[in-house]
Amino acid sequence: MWICSCHAVNDGMIKAFAKEHGCAWKKMTQELKVGTQCGICAKEAKKILEEAAGKPASSLKIAENASNPDCEAPALLPCGKCTCTCGK
Ligand code: FES
Repeated sequence: MWICSCHAVNDGMIKAFAKEHGCAWKKMTQELKVGTQCGICAKEAKKILEEAAGKPASSLKIAENASNPDCEAPALLPCGKCTCTCGK
């Protein structure tokens, strides 16, 4: 299933990434570019990443501006990674 149409990323690619790198949202945005253009896919991509990395999806805290590269108020995943691409 396609998750990020801007960068042609499917759920299998995210699961494979999680298997290799764990819950590494920032790294995933850098390598797969998921969530870095329009940002529509960010919430679903993070959910898949978390689940594949063994984190309960219910514990996700997704900010409305999660894909905003200028985010001043990042929301953190249970693993401590920022949910946006601000690099914080
Ligand atoms: Fe993923 Fe646009 S659908 S950045």
